[in-house]
Amino acid sequence: MVTPPPPTPRTPPTPQTAPAADRHERAEQRLHTAGVAYRPVDSAEAASANLAWWDADADDYHATHGEFLGESDFRWCPEGLLEADARLLGEVRDTDVLEVGCGSAPCTRWLHTQGARAVGVDLSGGMLRHGLAAGERTGIRVPLVQANAERLPLAGDSFDTACSAFGAVPFVASVETLFAEVARVLRPGGRWVFAVTHPMRWIFPDDPGPTGLTATQPYFDRTPYVEVDADGRATYVEYHRTMGDYVRALAAAGFRLTDLIEPEWPEGHTRTWGQWSPLRGKLFPGTAIFHTVKERQT
Ligand SMILES: C[S@@+](CC[C@H](N)C(=O)[O-])C[C@H]1O[C@@H](n2cnc3c(N)ncnc32)[C@H](O)[C@@H]1O
Repeated sequence: MVTPPPPTPRTPPTPQTAPAADRHERAEQRLHTAGVAYRPVDSAEAASANLAWWDADADDYHATHGEFLGESDFRWCPEGLLEADARLLGEVRDTDVLEVGCGSAPCTRWLHTQGARAVGVDLSGGMLRHGLAAGERTGIRVPLVQANAERLPLAGDSFDTACSAFGAVPFVASVETLFAEVARVLRPGGRWVFAVTHPMRWIFPDDPGPTGLTATQPYFDRTPYVEVDADGRATYVEYHRTMGDYVRALAAAGFRLTDLIEPEWPEGHTRTWGQWSPLRGKLFPGTAIFHTVKERQT
């Protein structure tokens, strides 16, 4: 899979203690994943598949990445960039901040520690369950909402800032719908800052080693990456958008692009996260962080 994420609620998976040797093996077994396809997937199928996927993978995801992410830290990407250093969201104290696709919500909790009134939204009850447990452990309890980011159950003009660290944006069928929803809940002048896999990564195999250095997939082919069961039903879906697609969708939703951050692989950072590795990180970007401001009502 490319990343280091109205559906029917699923029962959260049985807690597991250690991640499988193949990071995704247990989730794939639970969902009977049989292969990979590239085909169109509509919003309902994507939401249903990704809800099931993130529920099934939640325990292994946290067993593998939980320590790196921290329980109340805001890490933007596998390159390790911290919001505490980057300050892409500006001063958040006494402001309303929404995290879209918050997972277990370490970023939402960090925002709370900075004095923000922070709310996390995520599709997966399994991921949010980890967030509730972390809230109990840390004593930092933040409001968590289970919802599809394409239909936010939140009032308009109710947030000063929205952010996302690899949450929701790569997994929704319509990024236009998601951006319009974020624009609706943001107040005029509000920031929308989100990190996604750098679009250029799409052209390479999803491999942290030398195999991941040779382009095999057309950059301009937007057909989604889909994992499927034996009946062809999607068990995981991820969408590719070009840089231009993102810029156009942001403009259409009323956002002005104010910066595009491509975090460099830090010297001495040896941690591999899925396809993100020092080898590839030295050669080309793995993450794109879009920094935007809501200019007008749409
Ligand atoms: C890679 S995780 C990132 C979560 C968090 N930022 C972190 O670093 O742990 C992606 C998250 O996006 C969520 N997600 C996927 N599709 C979504 C959607 N349509 N609406 C809301 N959240 C979604 C998943 O449930 C998952 O928790």
